[in-house]
Amino acid sequence: MTRKNPVITIDGASGTGKGVVGHIVAKQLGWHILDSGVLYRALALAAQKHDVSLENEPALQVLAEHLDIQFKASETGDATVILLEGQDVTHDIRTEKVGNAASKVGALPAVRLALLSRQRAFQEPPGLVTDGRDMGTVVFPNADLKIFLTASADERARRRFSQLKEKGIDVNLSDLVKELSERDKRDQERAVAPLKPATDAVCIDTDKLNIQQVVEYIIKEYKKVFSIAQQ
Ligand code: DC
Repeated sequence: MTRKNPVITIDGASGTGKGVVGHIVAKQLGWHILDSGVLYRALALAAQKHDVSLENEPALQVLAEHLDIQFKASETGDATVILLEGQDVTHDIRTEKVGNAASKVGALPAVRLALLSRQRAFQEPPGLVTDGRDMGTVVFPNADLKIFLTASADERARRRFSQLKEKGIDVNLSDLVKELSERDKRDQERAVAPLKPATDAVCIDTDKLNIQQVVEYIIKEYKKVFSIAQQ
């Protein structure tokens, strides 16, 4: 069966591995990738740059509608460089402070609405893998395959800690546990597009799985959906 512009969504809380897994799956399939959290993180950074309060919904809506963000392949071609208003923010958007601010702007309905069509525009041939919180529930409700990743709070904090360390970002583990639980609570309890599995999502508990095993799980589900013979 051939499907026009197929989409695989991968949703989950922070530290479930959806970003890394999403990139590997997209690469294996030769599809586009959208890490939707980048849009919320870039918006939070733009708000800081333009002195816009994280509670000022109308101003954040305007900022979101005009967000000047570009995704470019790095010179080596194996990473994505993120430019905000022409400035490389690839590293700056990854701090927990920006993640937390992204979660605050992401709780505002007008902001989510302003970013909706921008996210949907990533659905291009040969296909799209996208990760976030509401990819399967709101942004791509007709996705061909929906994945929801879970992991215990301790395991997620541990993964996030080593991820941030690897990126050279200084963090304290107990602060991180606290920040992550606040952020996840906000993402789960917000009125619009809260973090939750779509009713037709395949849920994967990743606590005892490594990245490669999660990738294999998703590829297996993809082959089932697309009627591709399993090896
Ligand atoms: O995936 P991430 O950690 O980069 O996302 C940062 C924050 O952005 C997250 O805590 C909530 C918000 N976000 C969102 O509200 N909806 C998405 N689809 C992606 C991210």
